[in-house]
Amino acid sequence: MTGRFTVTAALPYSNGRLHVGHMAGCYLPADTFVRYLRSRGEEVAFICGSDDYGVPVSLTARKEGRTPREVADFYRAEQKRDFDGLGIEFDIYSGTSATELHTERSQQIFLSLLENGFLEKRSCEQLYDPEAQMFLPDRYVEGICPFCDTGGARGDQCEACGKLLEPRLLIRPLSVITGAEPEMRRTVHWHFKLSEFKDRLREWIESHDEWRPMVRNFSLGLLEQDLPARAITRDLQWGVPVPLPDDPDAEGKVLYVWFDAPIGYVSFTAQWCREQGGEAEDYTRWWKDPDSKIIHFIGEDNVVFHAVVWPAVLMGEGTFQLPDNIPANCFLNIQFPGKEEEKMSTSRGTAIWIKDYLERYQPDPLRYYLTMVAPERQRTAFNFEDLARRNNEELVAALGNFVHRNMTFADRYFDGRAPRRGDLSQQDQEQLDMIAGLPQKVGCLMEDYRFKDALHEVMAAARLSNKYFDHRQPWALRKVDMETCGSVINVCLNTVKTLAVVMAPFLPFAARKAAAMLRAGEDEMRWSAAAEPLPEGRELGEPEILFEKMELPEQQEG
Ligand code: 2FM
Ligand code: ZN
Repeated sequence: MTGRFTVTAALPYSNGRLHVGHMAGCYLPADTFVRYLRSRGEEVAFICGSDDYGVPVSLTARKEGRTPREVADFYRAEQKRDFDGLGIEFDIYSGTSATELHTERSQQIFLSLLENGFLEKRSCEQLYDPEAQMFLPDRYVEGICPFCDTGGARGDQCEACGKLLEPRLLIRPLSVITGAEPEMRRTVHWHFKLSEFKDRLREWIESHDEWRPMVRNFSLGLLEQDLPARAITRDLQWGVPVPLPDDPDAEGKVLYVWFDAPIGYVSFTAQWCREQGGEAEDYTRWWKDPDSKIIHFIGEDNVVFHAVVWPAVLMGEGTFQLPDNIPANCFLNIQFPGKEEEKMSTSRGTAIWIKDYLERYQPDPLRYYLTMVAPERQRTAFNFEDLARRNNEELVAALGNFVHRNMTFADRYFDGRAPRRGDLSQQDQEQLDMIAGLPQKVGCLMEDYRFKDALHEVMAAARLSNKYFDHRQPWALRKVDMETCGSVINVCLNTVKTLAVVMAPFLPFAARKAAAMLRAGEDEMRWSAAAEPLPEGRELGEPEILFEKMELPEQQEG
C-alpha cells in the first residue's frame, strides 16, 4: 500500500456533542489508520468537518431558540475540542456552512449533473404542515417504518433497519414541529436519476471483494431493489441554494443535506489546500488523480449514502475518482452494570460524552478500549467497568509495565544509557526476531482495516516481552554478569522502541512519552525504522509511567 491517500471521516451533524459511539464508529479508526500511513511516510490528507445544513441542525436551533448558524458554529467548536482531546488530528476540521468554497463546489456538482442529464425537474407531492405552513422534508416527520414496522422512524432513514425512506412512505406520519397530521401538497424538485447507475455501481462494488462484507452485501442488496429517482432539493431556507437564478421554480429551495454533505469532503480539501498556501483548485490532486486512494470511514447508517448514492453522483459528474474503500463500523451499544445491552441514546441519557470522560481520565485508555471492542463486523457494547479493567490489566500491567521496568532498570544500573549488546543467547535472538517481525504483521492488518486484530498483535508482543524479561531475570544477572545483563536490557530497550512505533497509531500519547524516554527522533519512530537498533550508549530520558491505573467513579467516591 503506497501512494497518496485522501482519508475522510463522516461529517457529524453540528447539533450536539460527541460521545464514545461516534468515536468508535469512524473517527478513531480513521485517525488510527492515518497515523499508520503517516508513520509509513505516505502522503495523506485527513479531512473532516461538521455537517451543518438540513433538518437536524434546524430542529436543534428551533429547540434551543437560536439560529441554525449559531447552533452549527457552537457545536462545531465543541466537537473540535472533543477531537483534540482524544488526539484525533484532522488536517482540517471545517464545516459545510463555514466556507464559501463548499457552496461553490456543491453548486458546481449540481450543475454538472444537470448538464450531464442526470437530474430531472419534477412536480411531486410532499407532506405539508398547515399549522407551521411549511413543507416537511426528512426529519421534520416521524412515523412507522413501512419496511420493519418500527415506530418513531424518521422521514429520511429508518434507524432500526437502515432503509432509506421518504416522509410520504411513513405509516401514520406526524409533523415533529406541531404534532399535526401533515397533508399532501404539490411542489417541484430536482431528482437524481440513481437507477441509471445501477449496473456501473454493481460492477464497481463487485470488483471490491476486499471490502467489509457488511458494506458490500448491504449495498449489493440495495441494488437488487428499485432505485427510484431521489429528490435532491428541498423547500427549506437553511442550506446551499439551488443555483438556478433564472428558474422561478428554484426560488426558496436548497440542496438536500445528504447531497451537499459528502461534497464537504471535497470542499474542505480545497480549503485546506488554500490554507497550506496553495490554490483551492489543488484539491483535484486528492480527488481526481488516479494515484490518490480515497477512503471513507463511516458508521453503519451511512453505508447507503457512501457506497451507492455518493459514488453515483461522482460517476454522474464524471471527473472524480471513486472511493477505494469504505470501512464502516457497526453501532456501539452500551451496557450498564447488571443491565442488558442497549442502544446509546442522547435523549435517554445513555451515552458517555467525550468531554465528561476527558475531565477524569486520559485519552489513551479510551482509544485502547474502543479499538479493542470496535464494532468492525457486528455491533458490540461499551462497558465502563470493562474499560477500567482492561486498562489496569492490559495497558498498565502488560504494556506500561514492560516499558517502565526497563526504563527504570537502565536508569538505575546503566547510568541512564542504552547498554552495549554483547553475545546473544537463543532466547535473546528469538525476542529480537519476534519484534523484528512485528511491524510487518501489524502493518498488514492495518492495511486490511483490521485495527482490533492489529492492536491484539501489539499487546501479544508486549506480553511475550514481559515473559522474556521474567525469564532472563536481569535483576539476578546484574549481580553475577553485568555484560549479559546489559545485552538483555539492550534487547528490551529495542523492544520498547519497536513497541512504541507500532503502538503509536493506537496510543499516540503513550507512544510520544516512550519516544521521549528513548530520546528517539521522528525518523527513528517511522514504521520502517521500528526494528532498527537503538544506538548503544544512547542517553535516555527520565523514566515515566505510560498509563495510570483507572478507578471507577464509585470506587473513587467510596
Ligand atoms: O449521519 C450523519 O451524522 C451525517 N451527518 C454524516 C454525513 S457524512 C458525509 F457524507 F458528509
Ligand atoms: Zn425500518
